[in-house]
Amino acid sequence: MGTLEQTLSTPLGVVEWFVYLLAAVMFVIGLHLMNSPKTARRGNLISAAGMVMACVMAFIVLFVGEAGNGFQHGIAVALLIAGIAIGAIVGVWSAKKVKMTDMPQLVSVFNTVGGGAAALVALNDILNSEEAAGPGIVVLITAGLGIMIGSVTFTGSLVAAGKLQGVKFLRKLTLPAKGVWNIAFIVLTIAAFVMLCVQPSNAVLWCILTTVFALAYGLVFVIPIGGADMPVVISVLNACTGTAVAMSGLAINNIALIVAGALVGAAGVTLSLAMSKAMNRPLMSVLAGGFGGGSDAAGSAEGPEGTMKETTADDVAVQLVYADKVIFVPGFGLAQAQAQRELADLGELLKGHGVEVEYAIHPVAGRMPGHMNVLLAEANVPYEELVDLDDINPQFPSANVALVVGANDVTNPAARRPGTPVSGMPILDVDKAQNVVVMKRGRGKGYAGIENELYFKDNTQMLFGDAKAGLQAVIAAVKELIN
Ligand code: TAP
Repeated sequence: MGTLEQTLSTPLGVVEWFVYLLAAVMFVIGLHLMNSPKTARRGNLISAAGMVMACVMAFIVLFVGEAGNGFQHGIAVALLIAGIAIGAIVGVWSAKKVKMTDMPQLVSVFNTVGGGAAALVALNDILNSEEAAGPGIVVLITAGLGIMIGSVTFTGSLVAAGKLQGVKFLRKLTLPAKGVWNIAFIVLTIAAFVMLCVQPSNAVLWCILTTVFALAYGLVFVIPIGGADMPVVISVLNACTGTAVAMSGLAINNIALIVAGALVGAAGVTLSLAMSKAMNRPLMSVLAGGFGGGSDAAGSAEGPEGTMKETTADDVAVQLVYADKVIFVPGFGLAQAQAQRELADLGELLKGHGVEVEYAIHPVAGRMPGHMNVLLAEANVPYEELVDLDDINPQFPSANVALVVGANDVTNPAARRPGTPVSGMPILDVDKAQNVVVMKRGRGKGYAGIENELYFKDNTQMLFGDAKAGLQAVIAAVKELIN
């Protein structure tokens, strides 16, 4: 793709430019509509329509605009058709088949593909430069950044997807002296990128080195990360995908890529900042490998003090019906059990009986930002009943019952002391409620892989079993009591 003047010098180029501009406007409108759950679906459709338009235009330009190069052109068109066909089949299949609880892994895989594609586009722009003196400084900087950020995103997101999928090998993999590796590869990557800009005559060598070092940094950056750092890393990688795409768009002068990438990048940066603030993790420390892991004191051989006490659905129903105030604490297990409707039904029953009911929302409960909000909105829980961490924590001491449904790490008091993988993460102060009931299948650990001290406290009782079946049993018992 040439400069803007070259693009606008033909009628097809003018149409192309306007179609990309329209697509970019549609991305912005779509993103704006995603601000509210009521308009989000429409926003998604408008953005998707913009993306289809941009893809069709790219195809037309290649098919009509650059025809006449014979064999090479035929291969390019065939590759494009094959790419669109494979992408469409995989996209439709994954959207239909992948469970909601596996969405975070899918998003990470999409980030991998997005980052890798942006890096390849940028690499192609530098290595196939048509300028006699090699690519100019603007292309070198923008495409170089595209290669660098795209490559980090490629390997980083791949490891993140594997960790989220629970691949044992990846979750157990550790990296001694992680901070040293992180800083070493950051320095090497930046050095290779600077050399690419100052010595374009050796562009091939510097491109290869920038790519290799950035790919390695992506690995050492994400391998040691676990527990409370993962959500921050995922949003950082998301921001990286967008930035890499925007840089590649600048390098090849494609307005749709620039705007789409900038939107994803800006949204990702905003989310990363919000997430690192919510998780009490300075962003720069996460990037330099300052967090992750922890010595797992809560999972030490002796385990937490106290014993777990089991309860029954009938007993839980009595506690709930005679309570003045109940706080529901949903977590990843609620999504896993797909029990959001049952939880909402229980809430309605109790409210009808005069009990005050609220839902405590932790910013990283589940496996993706806003996971609990989306889940509960699906069950028509009014937004006003979803209360954020800072607002709900002072209310726990006045709650007669805190009903924890499939939440683990976000309630673990071990976060309040140093040395564990969740240390420093703000938690829901569930242990401060007068009575706590925890619904989970068994003694499985949470994402951080440590024992939860809450389960061993005097005021905590465990209702073991699948959350959906457990809630159904509690609902039946509550109905019997009320009637
Ligand atoms: P987790 O700590 O992952 O705990 C979920 C609990 O649900 C498990 O202990 C499990 O115990 C239980 N469970 C699973 N299936 C169940 C079912 N069908 N019925 C009942 N219980 C079930 O969840 P959390 O408290 O929501 O914390 C989230 C964790 O994920 C944090 O560590 C966070 O850092 C991490 N993370 C979050 C994100 C984002 S952006 N939200 C992204 C990546 C990682 P049993 O096996 O005993 O049932």
